Amino acid sequence: MIEVNDLCFSRHDGGKKLSILNQLNLTVPAGQHLALLGDSGSGKTTFLHILAGLLHADSGSVSVNKELLSSLNEYERTLYRRKIGLIFQNYQLLDCLTVKQNIFFQYKLNFPKQENSEFESLINELGLEGKLNSLPYQLSGGEQQRVSIARALFNQPQIILADEPTGNLDKQRSIQVVELLTQLCRVRKINLVMVTHSHQLTEYFDQVKELRDGRFV
Ligand SMILES: Nc1ncnc2c1ncn2[C@@H]1O[C@H](COP(=O)(O)OP(=O)(O)O)[C@@H](O)[C@H]1O
Ligand SMILES: [Mg+2]
Repeated sequence: MIEVNDLCFSRHDGGKKLSILNQLNLTVPAGQHLALLGDSGSGKTTFLHILAGLLHADSGSVSVNKELLSSLNEYERTLYRRKIGLIFQNYQLLDCLTVKQNIFFQYKLNFPKQENSEFESLINELGLEGKLNSLPYQLSGGEQQRVSIARALFNQPQIILADEPTGNLDKQRSIQVVELLTQLCRVRKINLVMVTHSHQLTEYFDQVKELRDGRFV
């Protein structure tokens, strides 16, 4: 569950204060999925980064599964970030690692001593069986995005934050990726927040919000 109350965020540019996010309020009940729309520069990525614990709000509160982000110390914040799955427009796979290594790399850093039996089923669900030894450059955009979804879900996150994950994909592949992503999150009962430009993709979501100049409209 994600709860945002009166969230404000600004940046300082020289001596000037730039207000980026203004009085945002939002509740995403446990397991539900939110689509976030908005023009370029409206604050979508900034908002995701605050949810991910990468940026701090100036005022207001953000809690994720009852954890109040502003109350976490640096160590707790690191632990919190391990519970967040991030998916990006440009996939951000490691070029020199195979598909399988990409999926395991972050997990092994986060949980060096813990086995994870989810690998095979996740790979099958995402249709990546034949690609495990491929390098990212040998995959299509849709396949690379499916690897990045597998990597995010393999970490068994509490929430998934996806920043325009279909921004580099054609319409048909975008629909495929969003159908898969929402379905996999649904089964696992995890919150999904996805930024998208496409009104067509919002039909897969429980809730749709639009940012304009840092405010919800
Ligand atoms: N590092 C930064 N320093 C100053 N301003 C920034 C920085 N990052 C983003 N901004 C500004 O914050 C606003 C929101 O940016 P962003 O959250 O990236 O928007 P979106 O993802 O909706 O395109 C924009 O006006 C952008 O120029
Ligand atoms: Mg952005």
